[in-house]
Amino acid sequence: MKIIITKNYEEMSERAAGVILGVVKQNPKAVLGLATGTTPLGLYAKMISDRREKGTDYSQIRTVNLDEYKGLPKTHEQSYAYFMKKNLFDGLGITPEQTNIENGTAKDEEAECLRYDALLEELPRDIQLLGLGSNGHIAFNEPGTPFSSGTHVVELAESTVKDNARLFEDISEVPRKAYTMGIKQIMQAKKILILASGANKADAVYKMVKGEVTEQVPASILQLHPDCTLIADEAAAQKL
Ligand code: GLP
Repeated sequence: MKIIITKNYEEMSERAAGVILGVVKQNPKAVLGLATGTTPLGLYAKMISDRREKGTDYSQIRTVNLDEYKGLPKTHEQSYAYFMKKNLFDGLGITPEQTNIENGTAKDEEAECLRYDALLEELPRDIQLLGLGSNGHIAFNEPGTPFSSGTHVVELAESTVKDNARLFEDISEVPRKAYTMGIKQIMQAKKILILASGANKADAVYKMVKGEVTEQVPASILQLHPDCTLIADEAAAQKL
């Protein structure tokens, strides 16, 4: 794993934008695997201002997202579909047809997972962006998830519900289940970029980079990816 440590969040976002823009410029038809959470917000803002200033073209880009809350429709303000539209897609002129995410309101859970598995096979990702859960999760693959997993529905860990509650009016509104891309599929991306910011990620960063590769720390599998870069700010990297 290549490790880049930056002074702060701003610099982390800047370096991350450099990596993603490199992929987009090299291949205007690239498939981008994208993530939600607060960590990539600075990166997304930089991609939007780059397009405004330099006219970077996203008209042929396709995107695949990692995960979605079960039960939330695309129009719900806390759904990840809505998050992506608001924080990235609208600013890059990316149309809904170019994007893919699990359908949180699908009637048949199993069929929805199979649909997403097939879609991931059809759209090999040039790069997969990841955030890191404070318990070492990636996407919504919580500790204990088999490394061989494909798209599945998960019961969120109590710590994840608590972490994500800050974005909801009340913790009781946080969905308890979510669809997530599996670990096997995250590992299939040609390139992986994982971002971490803040002292609350320091333990997870340490275990991911220096700990043993174990299903108890989902992100530790990234040690085995041939082209994975971690960009962490000093606070998140303090235990390395
Ligand atoms: C959520 C998302 C993950 C994200 C993680 C970290 O649970 N499913 O994809 O990486 O939390 O979020 P944040 O960046 O807000 O710390």
